[in-house]
Amino acid sequence: MLPIGRQFFRKLQSVLIALLIVCVLSLFYFNETTTTHWSRFHEHMMAKLPDYLPNSFRGTHFNITGNMSASVLVPSDDRSLPDVIDQSKENFREWFDNRTDVEPYVNENSDHPVVKDFIITNSGLCGDSSVDILIYFHSSWKNTERRRLLRETWASKSVFQNISIKTIFILGKPPDEKSQFAIDLENVVHRDIIQGDFIDSFKNLTLKSAMAIHWINSYCLQARYIIKADDDIFVNIFKIVEDFIPLLSYRNHTVLCHFHRAGASTIVRNPKSKWYIPLNVFEGEDHFPQFCSGYVAIFTGDLIPLLYESSFRAPVIPVDDVYMFGLLPYEQQFMEFIDIRQNLTLNKNLGLKQYGGSEPLTYVGANAWDIGNMEKFWALTLNKLTPWGKRRAAISVLRDNMGPRSL
Ligand SMILES: *[C@@H]1O[C@H](CO)[C@@H](O)[C@H](O)[C@H]1NC(C)=O
Ligand SMILES: *[C@@H]1O[C@H](CO)[C@@H](O)[C@H](O)[C@H]1NC(C)=O
Ligand SMILES: *[C@@H]1O[C@H](CO)[C@@H](O)[C@H](O)[C@H]1NC(C)=O
Ligand SMILES: *[C@@H]1O[C@H](CO)[C@@H](O)[C@H](O)[C@H]1NC(C)=O
Ligand SMILES: *[C@@H]1O[C@H](CO)[C@@H](O)[C@H](O)[C@H]1NC(C)=O
Ligand SMILES: *[C@@H]1O[C@H](CO)[C@@H](O)[C@H](O)[C@H]1NC(C)=O
Ligand SMILES: *[C@@H]1O[C@H](CO)[C@@H](O)[C@H](O)[C@H]1NC(C)=O
Repeated sequence: MLPIGRQFFRKLQSVLIALLIVCVLSLFYFNETTTTHWSRFHEHMMAKLPDYLPNSFRGTHFNITGNMSASVLVPSDDRSLPDVIDQSKENFREWFDNRTDVEPYVNENSDHPVVKDFIITNSGLCGDSSVDILIYFHSSWKNTERRRLLRETWASKSVFQNISIKTIFILGKPPDEKSQFAIDLENVVHRDIIQGDFIDSFKNLTLKSAMAIHWINSYCLQARYIIKADDDIFVNIFKIVEDFIPLLSYRNHTVLCHFHRAGASTIVRNPKSKWYIPLNVFEGEDHFPQFCSGYVAIFTGDLIPLLYESSFRAPVIPVDDVYMFGLLPYEQQFMEFIDIRQNLTLNKNLGLKQYGGSEPLTYVGANAWDIGNMEKFWALTLNKLTPWGKRRAAISVLRDNMGPRSL
């Protein structure tokens, strides 16, 4: 009787919270001023390149010219996943506990050039507790539903026994106070929003990267591994921990991602393009240095202070993936890349086909943009847990959430 009672209470709690949210939302969705806010927001989205940076930060303090293809850390252009080292997965705690502590970067001489005020900080979210994996999302203020799904599926902080996970969402500022109120309410319930005081727009995505680095450096540097993802991406968190964390466990300053080698991507110099890069950034170059696609990247926490130090000098460019994984590590080449593009897909059909089929899973990240796909991926994942995953998963929690009854 006890589990049923607990389950019932949880459901009741969810229903009450949902009712409260519906009441608040209906207060302003039926308010006709919303349309004007929307069109104003649209104008911001279409606005020109951000000009909030003083000229002194547009590249003059940062060595961004030079030999773009030089890379001491990357052994060859044609990299594939190295063999998983043979170690007992029974000792999985060592993947986390063996990591050494990381010192924050502290700059006493200047304020950060781009990270200004936080509207919501949640500075105590990690506190003194140990954090094995920190998952952070660049999420638009509008994507309440996507955040709800993520909290209930792969980015839930309670999918594992004995592996502590924290999840945060990096937001900018919505165009009106009523939307801000909805975000405040969402944060009261979940306490997982980090919000910066800048307009939440595509061109301002880079500010989210800078803010996330600053926040982690200040408040959650104990995180051993970090997963950065977009809010419409499905990640098989069980497979990440079982097959990919071991690769990072004996390395420092390393990222697993969809890697782009130096010289492979053209720099857009047309000011009308949304990918426009000013002439004085990567001056004289036609192609980007090496970088990662940012839809999902898994990296060691020791990269954070290095990225943060660099962010005081680097110019802000509107392509946030290049900023985070190309520009910031560029000058001092401190980042080591492992290309896992074969294990990621942005083709939703390929991803769902594999998860619905009977072949072994090779994808760990997939596009779940379409309505209903996040839930589908999650249910299929729970049905395909490996023996290791089954023993480590917090089965009772998963059963209460969205999992299949067969668990
Ligand atoms: C930038 O490059 C110049 C010339 O190569 C060098 O003298 C200077 O030390 C570099 N600055 C940094 C911060 O590495
Ligand atoms: C750039 O650096 C790489 C590796 O050090 C070297 O092989 C290559 O010749 C350099 N290219 C130029 C144009 O200096
Ligand atoms: C963790 O550290 C211990 C003690 O140094 C060592 O014996 C063990 O092999 C390490 N485990 C992993 C997974 O690296
Ligand atoms: C979790 O950790 C506790 C204490 O370290 C241990 O007793 C327990 O067996 C662990 N559970 C699993 C599933 O590893
Ligand atoms: C980015 O945010 C800043 C600060 O809120 C704002 O002034 C600027 O217009 C935004 N840029 C874009 C392109 O939305
Ligand atoms: C990683 O960094 C730690 C702490 O600085 C060091 O003890 C360890 O040897 C490094 N490991 C590798 C593979 O470089
Ligand atoms: C990653 O993808 C490759 C190619 O599909 C596959 O051979 C490999 O087993 C995958 N890795 C994991 C850990 O699933």
